[in-house]
Amino acid sequence: MKQKKEGLVNNKVTIIGLGEIGSDTLKETNKKRKDVFGVDINPKILSKLSSEGYNVGNEIPISDVYIIAVYLTEQVMEVIKKINCTNNPLIVIESTVEPGTYKTIQEWKKKNNYRFDIVLFPHRFNPQDKEHHIFNLNRVIGGDKLSIKRAINFYKYFMPLNLIHVTTPEIAELSKPMENAYRFLEIAIAEEIKMLCEEKGIDFNKLRKAMNTKWNINVKEAKNGINGKCLPKDTDIINNFFDENKIIKNAIEIDKRYKEYVKKKKNVSGE
Ligand SMILES: NC(=O)c1ccc[n+]([C@@H]2O[C@H](COP(=O)([O-])OP(=O)(O)OC[C@H]3O[C@@H](n4cnc5c(N)ncnc54)[C@H](O)[C@@H]3O)[C@@H](O)[C@H]2O)c1
Repeated sequence: MKQKKEGLVNNKVTIIGLGEIGSDTLKETNKKRKDVFGVDINPKILSKLSSEGYNVGNEIPISDVYIIAVYLTEQVMEVIKKINCTNNPLIVIESTVEPGTYKTIQEWKKKNNYRFDIVLFPHRFNPQDKEHHIFNLNRVIGGDKLSIKRAINFYKYFMPLNLIHVTTPEIAELSKPMENAYRFLEIAIAEEIKMLCEEKGIDFNKLRKAMNTKWNINVKEAKNGINGKCLPKDTDIINNFFDENKIIKNAIEIDKRYKEYVKKKKNVSGE
């Protein structure tokens, strides 16, 4: 934990990590409060947001509330260790973290006798999906009673309370990567069905369309393999955590084979 630094502005809310999630969170929270500060280590992001009129910088000021939206668990840990907690702040982790992170933080807090409240409030933001953006979607929150109370007291000005679902910290941190691993699995099923169909000259899209007319069936699309920033990363988190699992391991293998299959098909068709 850093000691109080002279010259840093004392803002009430600081958002750390201004990427996809953090920059939109900064913009949305700014609509309701003017004491929000954004922190990132990337100068390009800082100059863009600053040119748009947002209050940003590369040092973490003393605040009452910290929202962490960096990409990886290691970065979350690095950021937490830099926070000045002399005024008993509320720390909200919106990043997706590895299971066990909450426990590690609690042990570190106890060992160092630090004072702060902390909740896990993993984001479910879906790019290009205005109906599931920053504050207009169901979200899960986990922490101890007092931390949850403080967090809800903060978020109630930004989102309807019925969208916030309280659970334990362990479930909150596991639910997010598990949701993404589950989606990974569903897409891998579609990829496997598509490869099997095409081997036998069957049109996968026609089959999928026919199957999906059933009310409780939803076969996903199979496109170019599972890419993007979150699904592969979070599926790896689950695969490593439940290292005896069969199904996620298979899904990862199927997706790998499917990507090679798509590449081969493109080479043959000259695309
Ligand atoms: N992008 C999505 O669609 C999405 C959806 C749901 C959840 N998430 C999760 O939210 C988290 C953030 O995702 P993202 O897509 O916004 O990531 P991102 O990579 O776009 O942004 C992360 C930002 O953190 C900054 N950063 C890294 N280390 C830092 C440090 N020490 N101090 C300050 N800033 C630092 C980076 O410069 C970057 O701008 C991840 O855990 C991700 O899995 C993302």
